[in-house]
Amino acid sequence: MNSNKKDGGSAFLWDNIGSNLLRIQPFLDSIIVDAEGCYLVDADGRRILDMAAGQFCGILGYKHSSFIERLQKQVSMIIHIPNQYVSYEVLDAARRLAEICPGSLNQVLFLSTGSEANECVLRIAKVITGKIGTLAINRGYHGISLATRNLSSISDYPWKIDYQPSAHGAHKLIAPTCNSCPLKMTFPDCKAECLDLSLNLIGSRTAEIGMVIIETVISAGGMIFPPKLYIQKLYNLSKEIGALFVIDEAQTGFGRCGKWFDFENYEIEPDILVVSKTAGNGYPVSAVVVSDEVRNLLETSGFTHLSSHQNDPLAAAAVHAVIDIVEQDDLINQARKKGEYFLEKLLKLQEQHACIKDVRGRGLMLGMELDWQSFPQKTGAFYLAMLCQKYGLHVTFSYYEQVVRFIPPLTVTMEDIDFAVEALHKSINDMKKETIDIKNLLPQNPRNAEFIKILNGNRSFKKIIKKIYNTSPKYWAQRIRELVE
Ligand SMILES: Cc1ncc(COP(=O)(O)O)c(C=O)c1O
Repeated sequence: MNSNKKDGGSAFLWDNIGSNLLRIQPFLDSIIVDAEGCYLVDADGRRILDMAAGQFCGILGYKHSSFIERLQKQVSMIIHIPNQYVSYEVLDAARRLAEICPGSLNQVLFLSTGSEANECVLRIAKVITGKIGTLAINRGYHGISLATRNLSSISDYPWKIDYQPSAHGAHKLIAPTCNSCPLKMTFPDCKAECLDLSLNLIGSRTAEIGMVIIETVISAGGMIFPPKLYIQKLYNLSKEIGALFVIDEAQTGFGRCGKWFDFENYEIEPDILVVSKTAGNGYPVSAVVVSDEVRNLLETSGFTHLSSHQNDPLAAAAVHAVIDIVEQDDLINQARKKGEYFLEKLLKLQEQHACIKDVRGRGLMLGMELDWQSFPQKTGAFYLAMLCQKYGLHVTFSYYEQVVRFIPPLTVTMEDIDFAVEALHKSINDMKKETIDIKNLLPQNPRNAEFIKILNGNRSFKKIIKKIYNTSPKYWAQRIRELVE
C-alpha cells in the first residue's frame, strides 16, 4: 500500500488543485491517495481505519484481489451494450441473485444507485396497486431524488425550493425508538401500538397508500433496530390496506447482518426487495427483485422502464462477484462472529464511560448512543467522529439521535476492531475535558472552512438542524397532543 507523502500533502493539494470541485458538501482535510483492506491512506501518509466501508458499500474491503480480477476480466470483455440486447453476464447474475433470495423473490432488474432503484419501485407500486400514496418510517432514508426524498426524513425539507414539488400522499410512521417511546409505552407490552396510532393519524388517507417501504436497520435515522413484532405487524397492516411491502437493504444486504438479507431475521418476505450499495462492493449497482406475483401483475400491465445503465454487464458482474466472494470467504458467518466481538467490546467501553447511553448492533451494523448533555461542552456524536479522525479512525454518525455508527467491511479483523475501540476510548476521554476547543476539531481545508461558514449563516441549514433534533420522539408527542386537543 502506498503510504508515502504525496505531492506536498493534503493541505498543499487543497491549495493547488482543490478549487475546481463544486462545493456542495463539506469535506474532511485528508485527500485520499490509496486504500487497502479496511484502511484509507491520505496524501500525508496517514492510515485511516474506515469503519464506514466507504459509503457503507465496500463489504469486501478495499483492493479485494478476487473482486478486482473479476471486474478487470469483465472490463476487458464488455462494459455496456445497447438496451435492446441482454448480455450473458446479466442473465447469469440475475440467476445467481435469485438463487440467494428466499421464497419467490426471483425476478431481477439491475440499475445503478439506491435512489434510482427506489424511484423505479415507486413506479411499479403505482402500476400494480393503482394508488400513488406511500408510507415510510419517519426517520428512514431511501434516496435523494425528487420522489425518493419524500420517503425519507433526512432528505425531506419541504421549505426548501430545490426540494419542490413534494409528492402527493407521502405518509410517515412513528419510528420504533423503543428506548425513548413517544407514547411512553414499553415494548413488548405495547404490541407496537405506535403503528396503529400512525395509521389513525393518517386517517382516511390510508386508502391512497400503494406502497410501504422500510429499512430493517434504520441507519442514518439513529441506528434503530425495529423489533420483530413492529415489522411483522407493519407487514400485516400493509396487506390489509392493499399496499406492496418493500424492503430497502441498501446497507444490510449481502450478509452484513448475519444472513444474506436482513429481512430473513424478521421471518417475513417482502413483495419487493431493493439492494444497492453493498451489491457492488463500491461499484455503483442496485437491483430491484420482485416476487412471482408482482412479476405476473407487472408483465400483464405493459409496464416499461428504460435507462442508459439498466442491466449493464459490468454492474451485473460486480453483483455476481460479490455473491461468490461472500460465499467463498464465509463472510456471513464472519459478520456474525465479528459483530458479536465488536458489540462485546463496546459494552465493555460503556462500563468505563457513563456518557455512553446505549450500544446496539446486529452483525456488522452497530451503533453507540451518547448522552451529549454529559459532556462539558454539550458535544455529541458529530464531534466524537471528528475527534476519532485525529486518532486515525473514520466513523459516521446518525442524524436523529446522538449515535456513532460502525458499519465496516465484512473483512474487518479483530485487530481493526480493537484499534477502533481504543481510538473511541481516547476520543471520549478528550471530549470529557473542559479545555477541549471544539471549533478546532472542524476541518480546516480552505474549501470546507468557507462552506461551513455559509451553511452556518444559512437559515435553511439552521432549520434543518432544528428539525433533526426536534424530530421524534418529542415531535411525535407534540403532534399527538395537538391531535387530542
Ligand atoms: C437505506 C438506503 N436506501 C437508499 C439509499 C440511496 O442510495 P444512493 O445514495 O445509492 O442513491 C441509501 C443511501 O444512503 C440508503 O442508506
